[in-house]
Amino acid sequence: MPKLKILVLMSVMALLAAGAAWSQDEVMTLDTKDLGPHQRPLVVFNHEAHSQNIECQTCHHDYDEYLNNNFEDGAPCAKCHRPRATAQNRVPLRLAFHRECKGCHSALMERGTPAGPVMCGQCHLRGGKKKTAAGN
Ligand code: HEC
Ligand code: HEC
Ligand code: HEC
Ligand code: HEC
Repeated sequence: MPKLKILVLMSVMALLAAGAAWSQDEVMTLDTKDLGPHQRPLVVFNHEAHSQNIECQTCHHDYDEYLNNNFEDGAPCAKCHRPRATAQNRVPLRLAFHRECKGCHSALMERGTPAGPVMCGQCHLRGGKKKTAAGN
């Protein structure tokens, strides 16, 4: 193969590799607008690290009438969980986050396996950014 073709091929491959790494939000700063101006510093969540050992369906769900989880995409939790609890919205938004995140961490902790944090200030890191964009 001529040298130039190899070089072009190599740069295309480098671009593809970079694209794959950037196409996902590896580390996300959670800033749900529906929660209004935040009282606590924003939570930094390493989506990539969590996804390596935990199945998507453990965190993402779209239940049908038989409570089967028909997960297809990573819809925002706020799409279904609304801020205020009602009969139709039994798991309000803030609780949905806390029950999912802290629930898993404390269950793992009780089993004595490596777990994530359960204290407020370990997720809502002091000195972190507050307010949502909507609250600015
Ligand atoms: C430990 C829990 C957890 C696991 C495991 C997980 N996710 Fe997520 N994911 C989240 C949370 C929390 C959000 C943010 C939701 C929000 O902002 O309302 C999110 C957001 C997303 C988004 C949307 C936004 C974005 O910025 O990228 C997609 C798509 C997604 N996840 C797909 C996946 C897929 C595919 C997997 C499995 C390979 C997966 N997730 C595994 C918790 C998880
Ligand atoms: C497509 C709609 C939908 C989305 C998106 C969604 N949920 Fe749910 N979630 C539900 C429904 C419906 C229930 C069952 C509510 C009930 O028991 O009344 C539920 C229940 C829960 C529960 C209770 C325990 C369980 O797993 O059944 C938690 C915790 C929870 N959701 C957290 C989250 C989090 C965190 C996200 C975002 C990563 C999310 N949900 C995204 C619809 C959704
Ligand atoms: C199904 C279990 C599970 C769920 C759900 C989960 N985590 Fe974790 N989390 C873990 C495990 C396991 C670790 C890694 C512990 C270790 O290896 O030290 C971890 C580590 C962490 C850490 C410390 C390391 C880091 O990545 O900075 C933070 C912060 C964290 N999780 C935040 C969250 C948040 C926020 C959510 C909800 C959006 C969440 N976790 C949901 C299991 C979970
Ligand atoms: C395992 C991680 C974790 C722990 C521990 C945790 N939170 Fe949260 N909290 C979250 C996540 C994730 C959200 C949703 C953030 C978003 O999407 O904007 C949230 C949202 C909130 C909100 C609504 C947004 C705001 O800032 O006004 C409040 C208030 C809050 N948490 C207070 C607390 C308090 C108080 C504690 C300790 C009792 C605590 N949290 C412990 C992860 C955590």
